[in-house]
Amino acid sequence: MKPKLRDDAQTSDPDLSVRIESERRFWNTLYSSWEKERRPFQTHNLIDHWDFLNALIEREGAHCILSVGGGVDIRAIELARRGARVTLIDVSDVAIHKTRELARLAGVASNVEIVQAACETLDRCDEFDLVIAEDALHHMEFTAGLSRIRDALRPRGVLLASEPMCLAGWLRWAHAKFPFHPEFPQTPYECLLGKEELEQVHATFDSVEIRFFELLNRPTIAYAFRRLGWHRGRQWLRRLDSVLLPAAPWLTALAHLAVIRAVRAA
Ligand SMILES: C[S@@+](CC[C@H](N)C(=O)[O-])C[C@H]1O[C@@H](n2cnc3c(N)ncnc32)[C@H](O)[C@@H]1O
Repeated sequence: MKPKLRDDAQTSDPDLSVRIESERRFWNTLYSSWEKERRPFQTHNLIDHWDFLNALIEREGAHCILSVGGGVDIRAIELARRGARVTLIDVSDVAIHKTRELARLAGVASNVEIVQAACETLDRCDEFDLVIAEDALHHMEFTAGLSRIRDALRPRGVLLASEPMCLAGWLRWAHAKFPFHPEFPQTPYECLLGKEELEQVHATFDSVEIRFFELLNRPTIAYAFRRLGWHRGRQWLRRLDSVLLPAAPWLTALAHLAVIRAVRAA
C-alpha cells in the first residue's frame, strides 16, 4: 500500500525540513559504506531486545505492516518474504535504494512499497495492522512522528517500537557531558526517550506495555568490556540484567532501552 504523504509537511515547517535533511545526509553517508552487515553501526549488546522484539512481531502475525526508519530494512523484506504486505519509509535515499535492491533479490518487490519519506509527513490512513519502529522514533520530532504512526494504524492496530531511553535526570546529564562510546553514531537531532515521551505514548495509545533492557549490559559498558576482551563478562552482565530488571522495577529508571507495545484505541 502506498503511504499517503502530506504535501505541505516539509515546506510548512522549516525546522522540521532542516531536521529531516540533516538526518537524511547523516544516514546517507553511513549507509553508503554499508556492505553486508545488518547494520553499518554496532552497539555490541543488542541480542536480547532484538530477540524480544522479533518474538513480539511474530506473535502479532500482522498482514499489513508499516516499517518506519528501518534503514536498509532486512527485517521488512523478510516479513514480505513470509507473505506480509509491507510498506517501508525512511528518510535516507541510500537506504531506500539498497532496500529496493534487497526486495528485488528476494523476489518480493511486488509485496513491498518502499518510499523515501519522513514519518512526520505521513497522512492519516487508518490501515496498518502493525507499525514497527526500531531505533527510529528517537530520531524524529517525537510528538508528530508518534501521532502520524497512530493515524496510520487501523483501530486496535499495534505499534512495536524499540528505542534507547534515559529516565534518570543525572544519567541523562552524564550522557550529555561525557562521550558515548566512539563507535556509536549519533546525529545532532537524536534524543534518548525520557519520561515525557513515555507519557506521550500513554496519552496517544489505548494500552501500552513496556519492557526494559540494558541496565548493566548497556552500550558503553559492553563497548568497554569488548575492548578489554572480557567477552564472558558481557554474558554475565546480560544474565544479571535479565534477573535484576524484572526483580527490581525501580532499576528500570536506569535502563538504556525500552521495547514498547502500544495499541491504538478501537
Ligand atoms: C538508528 S537508525 C535505525 C535503522 C534500523 N531501524 C535499525 O535498527 O538498524 C535510524 C533510522 O531512522 C531513519 N530516520 C531518521 N529520521 C527519520 C524520520 N523522520 N522518518 C523516517 N525515518 C527516519 C534514518 O534514516 C535511519 O535509517
